[in-house]
Amino acid sequence: MRADPTGAALPQIQEAAQRYSENARHKLAGLIHEAGPQGLPFARWMHAALYDPQAGYYAGAPLKFGDTAAAAGTALQGDFVTAPELTPWFGRSLARQIGPILAHIGTPHILEFGAGSGALAEHILQALLPEFPELQYYILDISPDLTQRQQQRLAPFGDSVHWLHSLPSGFSGCIIANEVLDAMPVSLFEWGEDGNVHELHVINKPGEASAAADPQADQEAQASSYFDFLRVPAGALLEQAVRTRMPALPGYRSEINLQGESWVAGLGQWLDQGVALLIDYGFPQHEYYHPQRSQGTLMCHLLHHAHSQVLHFPGIQDITAHVDFTAMADAALAADLEVLGYTSQARFLLNCGLLQMLSELDPDDTARYAREIGPVQKLLSEAEMGELFKVLAIGKNVDMDLMAFATGDRRHRL
Ligand SMILES: C[S@@+](CC[C@H](N)C(=O)[O-])C[C@H]1O[C@@H](n2cnc3c(N)ncnc32)[C@H](O)[C@@H]1O
Repeated sequence: MRADPTGAALPQIQEAAQRYSENARHKLAGLIHEAGPQGLPFARWMHAALYDPQAGYYAGAPLKFGDTAAAAGTALQGDFVTAPELTPWFGRSLARQIGPILAHIGTPHILEFGAGSGALAEHILQALLPEFPELQYYILDISPDLTQRQQQRLAPFGDSVHWLHSLPSGFSGCIIANEVLDAMPVSLFEWGEDGNVHELHVINKPGEASAAADPQADQEAQASSYFDFLRVPAGALLEQAVRTRMPALPGYRSEINLQGESWVAGLGQWLDQGVALLIDYGFPQHEYYHPQRSQGTLMCHLLHHAHSQVLHFPGIQDITAHVDFTAMADAALAADLEVLGYTSQARFLLNCGLLQMLSELDPDDTARYAREIGPVQKLLSEAEMGELFKVLAIGKNVDMDLMAFATGDRRHRL
């Protein structure tokens, strides 16, 4: 263990991962060089750091979440854990809402974005195939490595699962995206003392090569010596987006997920009929741009260690930002979609009947009961995922009540 730049302990990074990160740093440095003295807007840098086909985090073979034989059973499996990786009860609960949606529409089609290891797809298919033997499960993921893992894991479902390489031209059914919006590249901005909005770009640090090439420099020194931020006047689109969302607060830094908003707006074009369930950590706009959140929500995950040094360890750490659900709901409305519900993950799962399902477990089988209940508590606990995570339902041409929002619907807070 060693100290990380934020002062907390950072686990030892394996040599192969260090090499992968070094490769990513070279790739990013080259892109910045090509872009010229103003460097790359942070969103473009983040996109390359996560999704570059050769050097990005989501292209790399190293474990992100889930199991590998080498890491199984250790505390350091991957970099972070998501709800479907924790327990199948998450997918089973979702299936309780998805089933009635499919029945209502009369088209048993599901499209999952960013399916990760394929765990959620597996749990939903297991839960719904008995009721919908004709179920067609589509997956669209921009990570070739994860797509390959999904294909292996979901092979037993044969022709029920399909992978898309681009957005469909039309779709009816249910769409799900768990922790996908938070993984989209965001624009970084900062309010200047003069009341102007600046965008943060990433540049190569002068003298980058010296520390980076020094084999004696420790891993933080090498990483931190490469990149820096440069403030440039924000373009019209970003400036207008910032000004309409928050008051001028000199020195305040945060982010805007314009890509996520246009992704939601795109749904308005290709969705013919159906409901999209967008699950992620985040808040409504007034909480997102709260004066006290003056450093934004960007966060990195590396070997189950969360820190905020986004320019460090590219290629081997996940970079995420919380979701501004008001912005997503506004984008949906502007694209002629309806906002059908918004609530906490805990309330969503409880409304779906999670506790009723669990009550069917045999309480006398104490070992199994404890094994099943522990991860569920994480999903529901206010101190863990229950309150920070939210579910936003948007849709088109659907005239039905969604059980998942029957109580605790918070649309009025958006
Ligand atoms: C944090 S992981 C979540 C994985 C999985 N949904 C889960 O809950 O375990 C983010 C996933 O979103 C994918 N992704 C990011 N942006 C995407 C986009 N625009 N379209 C499709 N997939 C995307 C990534 O490749 C990755 O599989």
